[in-house]
Amino acid sequence: MCCQTIQKKREENSKVSARLKRDFSRGLGKHSHHKAPVKMLPTFVRATPDGTEKGDFLALDLGGTNFRVLHVRVVEEQQKVLKMDSQICAIPQDMMLGTGEQLFDHIAACLSDFLVSQDLKGQTLPLGFTFSFPCEQKEIDKSILIRWTKGFNCSGVEGKDVVKLLKEAIHRRGDYDIGSVAMVNDTVGTMMSCGYRDQSCEIGMIIGTGTNACYMEEMKNVKRVEGEDGRMCINTEWGGFGDDGSLKDIQTEFDRVVDKMSINTGVHTFEKMISGMYLGEIVRLVLVKLTEDKLLFKGQSSEALKTPGRFETKFISEIEEQDNGLENAQNILTKLGLKWELVDSRVVRLVCDTISSRSARLCAAALATIANRIRVNRGLDHLKTTVGVDGTVYRKHPNFSDELKATVRLLAPECDITFLVSEDGSGKGAAMVTAVAQRLALQSRLLEDSDGESDEEEEEDK
Ligand code: GLC
Repeated sequence: MCCQTIQKKREENSKVSARLKRDFSRGLGKHSHHKAPVKMLPTFVRATPDGTEKGDFLALDLGGTNFRVLHVRVVEEQQKVLKMDSQICAIPQDMMLGTGEQLFDHIAACLSDFLVSQDLKGQTLPLGFTFSFPCEQKEIDKSILIRWTKGFNCSGVEGKDVVKLLKEAIHRRGDYDIGSVAMVNDTVGTMMSCGYRDQSCEIGMIIGTGTNACYMEEMKNVKRVEGEDGRMCINTEWGGFGDDGSLKDIQTEFDRVVDKMSINTGVHTFEKMISGMYLGEIVRLVLVKLTEDKLLFKGQSSEALKTPGRFETKFISEIEEQDNGLENAQNILTKLGLKWELVDSRVVRLVCDTISSRSARLCAAALATIANRIRVNRGLDHLKTTVGVDGTVYRKHPNFSDELKATVRLLAPECDITFLVSEDGSGKGAAMVTAVAQRLALQSRLLEDSDGESDEEEEEDK
């Protein structure tokens, strides 16, 4: 790449970062947050693990490719989070677009089956619910869905408390009960599951079906929640960046088509340029255009190439593989019914690289904005921090993580960031959030009790 192109890309990324910085402040503001495209949602997670957490927990995970139920044990002495067992339940496509009641009844039924299979039905275990959608949280166990994102759009859930809907579905069945519930975004679970291993982990990032990040913000900047002391984890919902039109100048005609064809037009603009649910489709649209312009496959398209969704995001990773990429590209093109020549497969590879690189750089710009914000918050010249990461795009793509890290280094040179791939943030991390919430509740009860004691003592002294 020539110096000019690199310089131009850097300028573009800095521009994106500067706009996001402004949107972070809007999202956190008491009066500006209602209209802010980047929601900056308080999570009521006030601490990362300190290693003393323990106990048995249930975890639910809804929001990625599958719905999962887990039984997790947090062991204090060994500083370990053990997954005892788990079960995957498919959510059929029509249920993702059906009624909320159907969805929650299905979740309650899966949980019931799991409890039976684990012989846990008589117990009332605390439950961490990883619900990976934007929620306005009022408390750790009160969480109002703002809107569905990704492939979900169930009626009667937006504007409602998700914990209440889950509990109602369980009560409708009446065959088991659950203990206290902690609501967790997947980014938060990811941060917390890494936080157990590395206590300087204070950012969680997902680049999978969707994309998002959370981080520990100073309470004095979280104007919507009472209190000035300490920190609280903020779920940025950065996927919504650009929903007010602020990314129009960098959106391409392909981005606009992807948005128009999606089930939530105008929503989660940034996510649609980055995450796994959309990358394959962007590539397909570029290939269709190049074919129409007779620059690929001698102008001969195929039914498959013309069909939305047929170019899967995982193809991009396969095509960009270092050694077998070109061969993989050729096999994929054959399967898509296309007649290719060597040069076609090379161009297809270039297209994949362009789209995945753009995604990595946009993510990096957003991550650099967070890291810089934490550094400035703390008045530091230099910040050393850890990011817990998860998601299929980050994990599976051959160069995505390298490109992301290199761009973050350019954009946030004063931040030294370690990347830690999370081990099941949505499962173990959710249990961890629940465990930390229990620890804090216990600590504050003990504090209240001891306050009470000293009051009594003082009274006796008088
Ligand atoms: C979507 C959701 C967000 C989630 C992300 C990653 O952007 O709105 O809550 O964290 O996907 O799964």
